Amino acid sequence: MPKYAIRGGRRLTGSVKINGRKNAALPLIAATLLAEGTSVLENVPRIRDVEIYREMLDILGVQTEYDPVEHRLTVNPEGLRPAPIPHHLAGAIRASYYLLGVQLGLFGRAEVPLPGGDKIGQRPVDQHIKALTALGAEVWMERGVLKARADRLRGTSIYFDLVSVGATIHTMLVAVRAEGTTVLHNAAREPHVVDVANFLNACGAQIHGAGTDTIRIRGGRFLEGRRHCVIPDDIEAATFMLAGAITWGDVRVENVIPLHLGPVIAKLREAGVEVEENGDSVRVTVKRRPRGIPVTTLPYPGFPTDAQSQMTAFLSLAEGESHVTETLYEDRFRYVPDLVRMGARIRVEGRTAWIQGVERLTGVPVEATDIRAGAALVLAGLAAEGVTIVSGIEHVERGYDDLPGRLNQLGAEIERID
Ligand code: UD1
Repeated sequence: MPKYAIRGGRRLTGSVKINGRKNAALPLIAATLLAEGTSVLENVPRIRDVEIYREMLDILGVQTEYDPVEHRLTVNPEGLRPAPIPHHLAGAIRASYYLLGVQLGLFGRAEVPLPGGDKIGQRPVDQHIKALTALGAEVWMERGVLKARADRLRGTSIYFDLVSVGATIHTMLVAVRAEGTTVLHNAAREPHVVDVANFLNACGAQIHGAGTDTIRIRGGRFLEGRRHCVIPDDIEAATFMLAGAITWGDVRVENVIPLHLGPVIAKLREAGVEVEENGDSVRVTVKRRPRGIPVTTLPYPGFPTDAQSQMTAFLSLAEGESHVTETLYEDRFRYVPDLVRMGARIRVEGRTAWIQGVERLTGVPVEATDIRAGAALVLAGLAAEGVTIVSGIEHVERGYDDLPGRLNQLGAEIERID
């Protein structure tokens, strides 16, 4: 299995361009299936999750073409028909659940194996099921496969018991196919919810309020394929910002929407990192040792759970005490024992990691257990003395396009070895 070998201690400097957002691109690909004719998505990241999505679409009879240089994905849903998706594809990622709602909306029946993705907690799909059921579907599970059918989908009012990005987007995708109006209460406000709504509206849908906690969808409108540019990946940007910060570097992340990085920028500044916002770029500079801070993950506009592990790696080297509280996923500190083996002083109690900053980390063999845990270990390796070997990088590659190559351009020394 491939691994990363990282020789730490290099100060990162220079600029890096941020790709399109994974968690926007995947539901956008699903959304293109609802529109008649070809859609073109620009700024689609070259990552394994997108490849898996294309493989699933292929099984459903949908033609896609991806230009990895231009990052352009063309989707022609003409041949779309319901078909069973194998477990090894649907179970490899989280966003496979969107294909349940899309097929249900188009054909009145659908089945998709339970979604997988990072093993960071239980990740139930009860809110998805609740919403689909409220819209008139019958939803059940059979041997690990989620199945749904509906003679008629009818708009209604849906209250989510918790803020779920996946359930909000999924329900939006179904509601555009339902008769009448659907109102989502306690909806997720993430920019990728807005991005999917913008695309669907450009295709002819009527969705109002995306970006607030109440979204109103008038269903049953004819949708026609469009060209759309995926918004930048805030988590990739946060990862590079923290890579700059952990190495006391001077890194400019380009092609971002600084507003979307608000909580990350605020927390870095609180830790004493200089952050300069300039139009569509953010520059991170560290001149003296950062200090410990408290961090709590929350739905947007709170601090993103997907940047929690990278932040913890950074804080493990900050001066004084930090505490990081994870409110979304109960099992998102699985990388901590590896950081401790590298010399970090971190104690996890329930959902909080208590960090006593150390002056140095030392490279040892470590293993990525999910995408962001892998990113955190890479960051720790960049700052550590000696060589860090990161295994389990197939997780990292699900969500990052050429992380080593792009870090090397900033002066890091990482090699992908077999
Ligand atoms: C998505 C992202 C993931 C990110 C997360 C939070 C994708 C493919 N993945 O995951 O990278 O970490 O948002 O920003 O977009 N929940 C329930 N029942 C449900 C649905 C969710 O209890 O039916 C819980 C989850 O376990 C979690 C919280 O709600 O504690 C938020 O989940 P959600 O926003 O739905 O995230 P995911 O779709 O799992």
